[in-house]
Amino acid sequence: MNTSLFEDLADREALPQDLGPGITVLKGFALRDGAALVTALFAVAERSPFRHMVTPGGYRMSVAMTNCGPFGWVSDNKGYRYDSFDPDTKTRWPAMPEVFTRLAAEAAKRSGFSDFVPDACLVNRYQAGARLTLHQDKNERDFTAPIVSVSLGLPADFQFGGLACTDRTTRLRVVHGDVLVWGGPARLRYHGVLPLKPALHALTGEYRFNLTFRKSAST
Ligand code: SIN
Ligand code: FE2
Repeated sequence: MNTSLFEDLADREALPQDLGPGITVLKGFALRDGAALVTALFAVAERSPFRHMVTPGGYRMSVAMTNCGPFGWVSDNKGYRYDSFDPDTKTRWPAMPEVFTRLAAEAAKRSGFSDFVPDACLVNRYQAGARLTLHQDKNERDFTAPIVSVSLGLPADFQFGGLACTDRTTRLRVVHGDVLVWGGPARLRYHGVLPLKPALHALTGEYRFNLTFRKSAST
C-alpha cells in the first residue's frame, strides 16, 4: 500500500487559510537570517550539546534537543518542565543569540503579538525518521504569549490538530526559513511533525532544525 496516499487521505489538504484563527504562516520570513540562525544554533550546541531526552513514560525521543535562553524545556522520568540549568552540563543554558530574539519578536509582531520577549528557545534537531507526535505546548505559565516556530534546513510536514487530541489534523509543508506563529485561540492547539524524509540541505546537511520560542515564566 502506498503510505503517502494513505496519509493524504487521513490528513486534510494543507491550505494556510484553513488553519483557523490565531495561526499565522510567515513563508520565508527567516530566509534572510537563515545562515546566521544556523551558525548561532551550532554555537549554542557547542555549549549545550543535542541529546535525546526520555519521556516520563520511559521512551527515548527521536528528536534531539537543546535549549538557549534563561529557561530550557526538559523531559525525564520525573516529567516535563522548564529549568534554568542544563541537566547534562550542569550549567545554565547558553544565552539566547541576539539574532534569535530579534527574529522571534519581529515574527510575533507581524502576527499581531507585540512585545513578545521569549525567555526560552527549544532547539530541535530532526534526522531521517525523527518525528514529534501530536502534543500541546502547555508547560508554560503564560498562555497569553504566542509560540514562534522557525524551520531551518530540510523540509518537513507539520500537523495542526484542534484543542482536543482526537480532532482531525491539517498538514502543512514547512521549508527552510518558514515561521509559524500560534497564539490566542490557537495557543493550545495540538501540533506535531511527521517523520522526516531523508535528504541533504546545503546549510544543515542531513538535518532539519526547529527553533521554538516560548515565554515559559509568568511576569
Ligand atoms: C515543537 O512542537 O516543539 C516543534 C515543532 C517543530 O519542530 O516544528
Ligand atoms: Fe510543540
